[in-house]
Amino acid sequence: MPTTSPAAAASPRPWNPDSWRDCPIRQVPTYPDVAKLRDMEARLGKYPPLVFAGEARRLKAHLALAAEGKAFVLQGGDCAESFSDFTANIIRDTFRVLLQMAVVLTFGASLPVVKIGRMAGQFAKPRSSDTETQGDVTLPSYRGDIINGPEFSEVSRIPDPARMEFGYFQSASTLNLLRAFSSGGYADLHEVHRWNLDFVERSPLVERYQDLASRIDETLSFMAACGMTSTTTRDLRETDFYISHEALLLPYEQALARVDSTTGDWYGCSAHFLWIGDRTRQAEGAHVEFLRGLQNPLGMKVGPTQEPDDLLRLLDILNPANEAGRITLISRMGADKVGSKLTPLVRAVQRSGHKVVWLSDPMHGNTISTSSKVKTRNFDSILQEVRGFFDIHAAEGTWAGGVHVEMTGQDVTECIGGAHRLSEADLGSRYETFCDPRLNAEQSLELAFLVAEELKRRRLPPSAPALAAQ
Ligand code: PEP
Ligand code: CO
Repeated sequence: MPTTSPAAAASPRPWNPDSWRDCPIRQVPTYPDVAKLRDMEARLGKYPPLVFAGEARRLKAHLALAAEGKAFVLQGGDCAESFSDFTANIIRDTFRVLLQMAVVLTFGASLPVVKIGRMAGQFAKPRSSDTETQGDVTLPSYRGDIINGPEFSEVSRIPDPARMEFGYFQSASTLNLLRAFSSGGYADLHEVHRWNLDFVERSPLVERYQDLASRIDETLSFMAACGMTSTTTRDLRETDFYISHEALLLPYEQALARVDSTTGDWYGCSAHFLWIGDRTRQAEGAHVEFLRGLQNPLGMKVGPTQEPDDLLRLLDILNPANEAGRITLISRMGADKVGSKLTPLVRAVQRSGHKVVWLSDPMHGNTISTSSKVKTRNFDSILQEVRGFFDIHAAEGTWAGGVHVEMTGQDVTECIGGAHRLSEADLGSRYETFCDPRLNAEQSLELAFLVAEELKRRRLPPSAPALAAQ
């Protein structure tokens, strides 16, 4: 049973969409023009919701399966979307790589893969430092395009509420394209598999990936022989795809919260899935307060400073009814710390009876600075953290529910390593991120193939295909 403390169970604080405003808040900017902020909140409050509550409930049901070990989750996309990199091709390419990864993972896990983009609203960024210094000039830090501008100038760094409206419309437009791709034929499984074959042929590790790719090939041919093609079977030509972002900028999130007319419950309608970052997960803080009142599936990042007792307290606050699918814990420890830091958390959650989905974010604990002060991540550390995550769950008898990655469909050079052996010297050629370094298309697919191998290797009971049993 959940460890709800008697005090919390007896008298939960009343929640309303404004109640976060009385709590201590971190990482949210101070807008110099308060009247302009209020006008913008009122205006966004009248705009149509971006997602429908029923969709968020469906995602929660899929995540409930992942909490029970009956599905695997793939969450990925930019660290920060930007207003300037807003093109159909960029959206399409990230979506395509996520689909490619999902096919490989579905095969590896022999389970449905729940696909969630860090897309269509991933604009607000928590920062380690409130200021940035270049030479002898110190300015407020860039906090994501929905808050201020990336250019290093005084004007650009002033938080501007008008950016929220731009973010809303960009999210609406991105989501519209994602919905069109998901149901309009672009997500056809045969196409996605063909793209994967191209990837395998180009990879220096072709021998390693060939086997898995050929077996997917055979499976698709077998299904076609049985009459299951994209023409006959909707599930082969369409897919469910959900959007998510860190719910950091609470004035924006509140302006997009709506009461669902079918249930009377509040939903955050800026995305299907909202998460709380590692820097804003204080039990008494504004972010936890706001999100506990929404009925969306929620994520929470858990980093190396997360203590087991605090985690249980947060779970009691965010999921008092212990609803499966409600909470996804996204572990971001770092390859060297995952063993010592994640194990006590997994044990505590397991003992408490809380139903959660565990995801591995192998990116945020593995950020390093090169000698020339460029932020990067090493592909080997990323893989090592994911493997550590799988090992811990195998040892504890819990389900390693999925992965959360910062990636792009572009051929950028931001993370080092991978089959193409990107080095520090390559980082300069296409380093385009507005925040953290992302896996490029090839590195993302490589990670998916390697995770699929892990999933297959660890699948218990050992795979016993129906045909073999006959
Ligand atoms: C992020 O996901 O981009 C992020 C800032 O993560 P974290 O809160 O885990 O540091
Ligand atoms: Co990031």
